[in-house]
Amino acid sequence: MTTATLTQPNGAQRIPFSKGLDGVVAAQTEISMVDGPNSTLLYRGININELAEHATYEEVAFLLLNGHLPTRSELADFNARLVANRWLPAPMYDLLRTLPRDTIPMEALRTAVSALAFYDPEIEDISIEATRRKSVRLIAQLPTLTAAFDRIRNGKEPIAPNPRLSHAANTLYMLGLSTDPEFVRALDVYFILLADHGMNASTFTARVVASTQADLHSAVTSALASLKGPLHGGANEATMHMLLEIGELENVDAFVDRAFATKRKIMGFGHRIYKHGDPRSAHLNRWSERLGKKVNQLKYYEMSLAVERAVLRHKELYPNVDFFSATLLYDLGIPIDLFTPMFACARVAGWCAHVIEQYRDNVLIRPQSEYIGPVGVHYVPIDER
Ligand code: ACO
Repeated sequence: MTTATLTQPNGAQRIPFSKGLDGVVAAQTEISMVDGPNSTLLYRGININELAEHATYEEVAFLLLNGHLPTRSELADFNARLVANRWLPAPMYDLLRTLPRDTIPMEALRTAVSALAFYDPEIEDISIEATRRKSVRLIAQLPTLTAAFDRIRNGKEPIAPNPRLSHAANTLYMLGLSTDPEFVRALDVYFILLADHGMNASTFTARVVASTQADLHSAVTSALASLKGPLHGGANEATMHMLLEIGELENVDAFVDRAFATKRKIMGFGHRIYKHGDPRSAHLNRWSERLGKKVNQLKYYEMSLAVERAVLRHKELYPNVDFFSATLLYDLGIPIDLFTPMFACARVAGWCAHVIEQYRDNVLIRPQSEYIGPVGVHYVPIDER
């Protein structure tokens, strides 16, 4: 942790400064516990290992939003509302058709979520109940937006949501991909594992926006913007591009050696909190291997294992959530530039839960900055500069 003591030029205030807010507690939360030293992640007290084994994404989304696992009838009602909200308002399809075909999907998604606000009947209502209803709509709509944009940019008609399919199955279906039960479960587990993660950059962004009492769509639009970067959600796409660049198993060691020699970061490795390993990675590793076998394409999985070994020879760095996500999503047939939108489809449940938590006990999030510039400088007329 990089810290310094803030001393304003007037010498009056002394506030500790932490670069990147490392080690700073910015909120109290009951949603997820990220335990770095023990490489553990809990959602509402439940270990993600149990959820990845037994739960569905629908149950996890309900858990995050409501604080408890749903009963049968609560789950049936929640599912029905998700299914009913999968369709987009008609003008949204027109909007997606107007986007240039080479629009980066995360940008399309960010713009589209912002535009969904025009059609949401409760946009200005930031009560907890209205925000819960809007959350269900957004969770249901993000996969539809992603899939519809992908179809349209490829000159195809969007595929209508299928009400008989689960959230994960319907996502694959709308993308025109196989809904084989093993593929569906792989995506379901991926969605579960990425649904929330403490005060990560995009969640913090969502909470900052919510703390101004702005609406849920504003908070989620901002969170999407934050997720896009390669140091956050964009790392899954960057990981796959890196594996493709390495090309062959025998190139791995030389690639990793060169990366360390030139201080190039290995995508999908390292974490601000988990210094001894990311608990989500083991599940994603297993599913990645399973899918690799199923689609007869173990090459990238085996390269991933080799990258993991090679990185460890240089530094104690472990794969984060994005590393094995890359091969998992690739083997599902998902286009690489949709990997980060897939992350968003999962994380939207967490963002919404955090916005609700922020509204419940709101205080404007407004940290300070340490001024390190000069003082006593005077205005100089333009002809004298
Ligand atoms: N490859 C090579 N070296 C690395 C990597 C990496 N992926 N990650 C960290 N390091 C090194 C740094 O160069 C630094 O070395 P130094 O002490 O010699 O200068 C040291 O490890 C500490 O790294 P920081 O970047 O200071 O750690 P920080 O906690 O700030 O960053 C981060 C965490 C941003 C995730 C970083 O590990 C990284 O850039 N990883 C690659 C991008 C990535 O995978 N992002 C996804 C994160 S998970 C998520 O958001 C969903």
